[in-house]
Amino acid sequence: MKFSASLAFTLAAAAAAVAAADDVDLRDLPVTREGTHLYLNGTEWKAVGPNVYWLALDENVVPRGRAVLRAQEHQLPPPGPRHRGHAHRQGHGRYHDSRPHHRLQHRLSLSLMPEAGVINEDAWGPIDWAIYQARQHGIRLMVPLVDNYDYYHGGKFDFLRWAGHNLTQAKDATNPAIMAFYEDPDIVASFKSFVTDLLTHRNPLTNLTLAEDPTIFAIESGNELLGPKWGDMNCPAAWVRDVARHVKALAPAKLFVDGTYGVNATHFDVDEVDIFSDHFYPVDVAKLKSDIAKLEDAGRPSSSASTPGPRPPIPLFGRNMPDCNDWVEHEDGFTIKYGDPTNSEAVDARIRLIRKHFTKMSRGEDIEEDEELPVIPCPLEEDAE
Ligand SMILES: *[C@@H]1O[C@H](CO)[C@@H](O)[C@H](O)[C@H]1NC(C)=O
Ligand SMILES: *[C@@H]1O[C@H](CO)[C@@H](O)[C@H](O)[C@H]1NC(C)=O
Ligand SMILES: *[C@@H]1O[C@H](CO)[C@@H](O)[C@H](O)[C@H]1NC(C)=O
Ligand SMILES: *[C@@H]1O[C@H](CO)[C@@H](O)[C@H](O)[C@H]1NC(C)=O
Repeated sequence: MKFSASLAFTLAAAAAAVAAADDVDLRDLPVTREGTHLYLNGTEWKAVGPNVYWLALDENVVPRGRAVLRAQEHQLPPPGPRHRGHAHRQGHGRYHDSRPHHRLQHRLSLSLMPEAGVINEDAWGPIDWAIYQARQHGIRLMVPLVDNYDYYHGGKFDFLRWAGHNLTQAKDATNPAIMAFYEDPDIVASFKSFVTDLLTHRNPLTNLTLAEDPTIFAIESGNELLGPKWGDMNCPAAWVRDVARHVKALAPAKLFVDGTYGVNATHFDVDEVDIFSDHFYPVDVAKLKSDIAKLEDAGRPSSSASTPGPRPPIPLFGRNMPDCNDWVEHEDGFTIKYGDPTNSEAVDARIRLIRKHFTKMSRGEDIEEDEELPVIPCPLEEDAE
C-alpha cells in the first residue's frame, strides 16, 4: 500500500449573521429545519456567505500549508516505518526544501490523517482555532467531509489508495474503479471511521466536540462528489443515506447536506438529507432556477449551498496572519478580497452588492448599495485572544 497523502479538514464556510442578543446565547442554539425552511430560535434563518475552502489549511500561503504537487508525492516511498495509533512527528522541514521527500514530510505534519486510520493530533490546532473564531464572531460553518478531487487537503482518492487502489485524479478521473469509494464496504467503513474521528474530537478552546458545537450548523457529505463522468451526479443514493445516518447518529442536531455535484432527483427519497446543493462556476442562473424547481416539485428543501450573487460561489480570501496587511493570493479568477486597497472599483462595487444582499437576506434590512464598506481593523481586537 502506498504511504498516501494527507487528509486535512476542509471548511467551506457558510456564514450568517447572528443578531447579538440578550441573555440567551444564540450561538448555543442549533439551526434546525422544518419542511423546506431553516430556523434559529424559532425565526427563519438563511445562510449567506463565502466559500472559505482553505480555512485552517491554506495552500496559498508560503511556506505553511502550501500545496505539494501530489503527482510527485505519489511516486515517493513511505518516509518511515508505519505506526498505527499515533502520528509521526515529521519535524519542521521548510517548504522550500528542494528534496521532495522532505516536502512530503512537511505536508504530512500538517495533515489530520497522514495515513490510513491515524490521526495526527497536532494538526487539530488551526482547525480548533478557526471553529472557535467563527463561534466568537457568530458565524456558522458548513463543513464538507471529503473532496471529490486529489486536492492538496486530501480527498476520496486517499481512501482509494489506502485500500490498495493505484488511482490518482490526474490519470483516473474517468476510471470506473473510483466507484469503489462509494461501493467497497471496507472503504466505506474506513471513511465512516474518519468521520467518527472528526465528529468526536473535542475542541479544547470550546470544550465541545465538533458534533456538539452548533457553530458547525451543517455537515456536507463532500465537495462536488461525482462518479467517473464529469457531471454524472453519480454519488450513489445508498452511500448518501449511509453517511447521513452515520453523521446523524453521532451528531443528531446537525443538518446534513448532499454534496453530490448537482441535484440528483434519485436522492430525494433520502429523508436524512436536509439540504441539497449545487455549485455554479461560472454563474448559471438558469441551472440554479431549474435545481430549485426540481426541489420544489419534490417538496424537498430548496436550499442551494451556493450564494446567489454575481459569481457564486465566491471564494473569499483573507488577510495574512500575523502580518495582516497582506492579502493572500489565489489566482483562479473567482477570488474576492474584502478591504484590499488594490481592489478595482468594479470589485469593490461587487463586494458592496454582496454586502447589501447579505444584509437583506440575513436581517431583512435594506442598505444603500453605494454605502461605504466598513473598515475592518488590522489586527482585530479579538485576535489577541
Ligand atoms: C429566543 O426566542 C425566545 C422566544 O421567542 C425569546 O424570548 C428569546 O429572546 C430569543 N433569544 C434570543 C437570543 O434571541
Ligand atoms: C500505478 O499506475 C501507473 C499508471 O497506470 C503505473 O505506471 C504504475 O506502475 C502503477 N504502480 C503500481 C505500484 O502498481
Ligand atoms: C468539558 O466537557 C466535559 C464533558 O461535558 C466535562 O466533563 C468537563 O468537565 C469539561 N471541562 C471543562 C474544563 O469545562
Ligand atoms: C443519480 O444517482 C444515482 C444513484 O443514486 C445514479 O445511479 C445516477 O447515475 C445519478 N445521476 C443521475 C443523472 O441520475
